[in-house]
Amino acid sequence: MTVQNPDTAWFPGPPLLQAVGLGRSYHAPRGAANGRARTALSPTDLVMHDGDSLGIVGESGSGKTTLVRLLTALDAPSSGRVDFHGQTIVSAEGSVRKQIRGKTLNWFRQHTGVVFQDPYASLDPRMSVGRIIAEPLIGLGVAGDRRARVREVLVQVGLPADFSERYPHQLSGGQRQRVAIARAIVHRPTLLVGDEPLSALDVTVRAQILELLVSLRAELGLSLIMVSHDLGVVQELCDTVAVMHEGQIVEHGPTARVFATPEHPYTSRLLASALPLPGA
Ligand SMILES: Nc1ncnc2c1ncn2[C@@H]1O[C@H](COP(=O)(O)OP(=O)(O)OP(=O)(O)O)[C@@H](O)[C@H]1O
Ligand SMILES: [Mg+2]
Repeated sequence: MTVQNPDTAWFPGPPLLQAVGLGRSYHAPRGAANGRARTALSPTDLVMHDGDSLGIVGESGSGKTTLVRLLTALDAPSSGRVDFHGQTIVSAEGSVRKQIRGKTLNWFRQHTGVVFQDPYASLDPRMSVGRIIAEPLIGLGVAGDRRARVREVLVQVGLPADFSERYPHQLSGGQRQRVAIARAIVHRPTLLVGDEPLSALDVTVRAQILELLVSLRAELGLSLIMVSHDLGVVQELCDTVAVMHEGQIVEHGPTARVFATPEHPYTSRLLASALPLPGA
């Protein structure tokens, strides 16, 4: 199934991000009774343009993380490829895979920031907050005053600039997630990707971080991919939504349309099992 925002489908030039026949299967563990490979993601096509915001929803095990890890080049596909601005970032073809290392991947990393679910596991406890946030600048070799940039971005995510001296264990869960977001935007990416970035947080903090993401998106003009089991989050943040079920995108379209008049029975079931959406 092709995921394309109808509002931007006419855009000339290569899309921001394009998946072509992107699939991932895992080999069965050695000695397993059923030795067949498991398909975590069936071949999927997906197109995003600059400024798009795509939500990915679906039950546990439906392939959301698998898809996002491929789209961010954290994993290599078993089939197909991912292009960013027309350049192949990851591909199942061995010869292409070799070429992709180095410059192109570095260029891609400069344009993307990723936030994960667990703000406890994702921050190195031995590093100061300042060092954690500076990490992408160091890794990507971004020139300039790193300290100044770290202080600037701390304020941008609603933390005092002197938090750079602290260590993760001295922070609350919400503060940690703000640090994780600061790290994801410090190198000024154009695409921000979140895999359940709000689900480990309690309700009040979740609302604050959601508000932060909404304002950062507008302020920085970010394109967005947001995995969430919370349909309210997707409704708030994403113009389009893709619904995943058993390793496939079964429905996609403008979020308001999909949530109001779902076309696939699985989407209807997902909506029925969710809490009522604000304004519904
Ligand atoms: N490294 C792996 N080895 C084997 N199977 C895997 C691996 N990673 C994921 N899978 C399988 O792929 C399928 C999709 O997993 P994935 O993590 O993408 O689901 P998800 O939609 O992100 O679920 P959740 O909402 O629980 O995070 C699952 O059946 C999972 O068990
Ligand atoms: Mg997941």
